[in-house]
Amino acid sequence: MTSTTFRVGGDLEVRRLGFGAMHLSAEPGPDRERSLAVARRAVELGVTLIDTAYLYGDGGANEELLAEALHPYPDELLITTKVGVARTGPGGDWRFDGRPAVLREQVEQALRRLRVERIELLQLHRVDPDTPLAEQLGALRELRDEGKIGRIGLSEVTVDELARAREVVEIASVQNRYNLLDRAHEPVLAACEAAGIAFLPWRTVAWGDAGARAEVAAVAAELDATPTQVALAWLLGHSPVILPIPGTSRADHLAENLAAESLRLSPAQRVRLDGLGVAS
Ligand SMILES: NC(=O)c1ccc[n+]([C@@H]2O[C@H](COP(=O)([O-])OP(=O)(O)OC[C@H]3O[C@@H](n4cnc5c(N)ncnc54)[C@H](OP(=O)(O)O)[C@@H]3O)[C@@H](O)[C@H]2O)c1
Repeated sequence: MTSTTFRVGGDLEVRRLGFGAMHLSAEPGPDRERSLAVARRAVELGVTLIDTAYLYGDGGANEELLAEALHPYPDELLITTKVGVARTGPGGDWRFDGRPAVLREQVEQALRRLRVERIELLQLHRVDPDTPLAEQLGALRELRDEGKIGRIGLSEVTVDELARAREVVEIASVQNRYNLLDRAHEPVLAACEAAGIAFLPWRTVAWGDAGARAEVAAVAAELDATPTQVALAWLLGHSPVILPIPGTSRADHLAENLAAESLRLSPAQRVRLDGLGVAS
């Protein structure tokens, strides 16, 4: 049986089935109260990996929400955030921005918002095509050497970008879109598996077109489970380096998603589900 935990960067142990905080509303009022309750419930249910980003909540509001909900943090909780997407100016458009000064400023802001002295896993939200990769990662390496971040991750990268990044600095995680039905990043997953790098798929709640949907629903019915649980259980069994971060704003969906950890797919069911993936 595959482990329910993973050591990020070789040493930081988390429960593999995590939580993506992007869908939590930070707007004042009842929605915010619900968001705070869902974040707290995630930790009560044993989540030790929560994913956020500077971008979520329009520039830091999601990070602030998590701090309000969960600070002071339990020792075992890893809140990972992402930097590298910024507005062109006040009220301007969002764009990939990996200039060293921008990355440093967003990390400094995240430290303040999350109320921590060090971000244990800091991910580059996107590689900025207009800034040399070595400069972007060099900036993160400096922040790591200063003790402001513990480990460095990437998001939406190719196998080649991952390899080039690893020539500059150790990479502890990769966060790419990947799920039961969309396996375009299978080669990146394989590269992560070979190097012991955590792979955090997003868009994990996916059922696909009618044909795939019917097959997932059939397996779900056989197991007295939901299609979402089947999709998450498939991911957990597909590779030991996969750490899914399903997102929800609802406590019932949160509990449903986390219960996927105890779902056991038979080898025959796994073969049927394997056949649904579209690798490219
Ligand atoms: N690196 C990147 O570029 C990137 C991009 C997008 C997202 N992310 C990360 O990935 C996390 C997940 O976001 P995602 O966009 O990939 O979405 P996702 O987790 O695949 O799906 C979230 C959506 O599915 C619904 N949902 C969740 N659990 C459900 C369930 N059990 N039954 C039915 N519906 C359910 C949610 O609605 P309810 O709120 O109604 O449950 C929400 O609309 C985000 O929080 C973020 O941390 C990363």
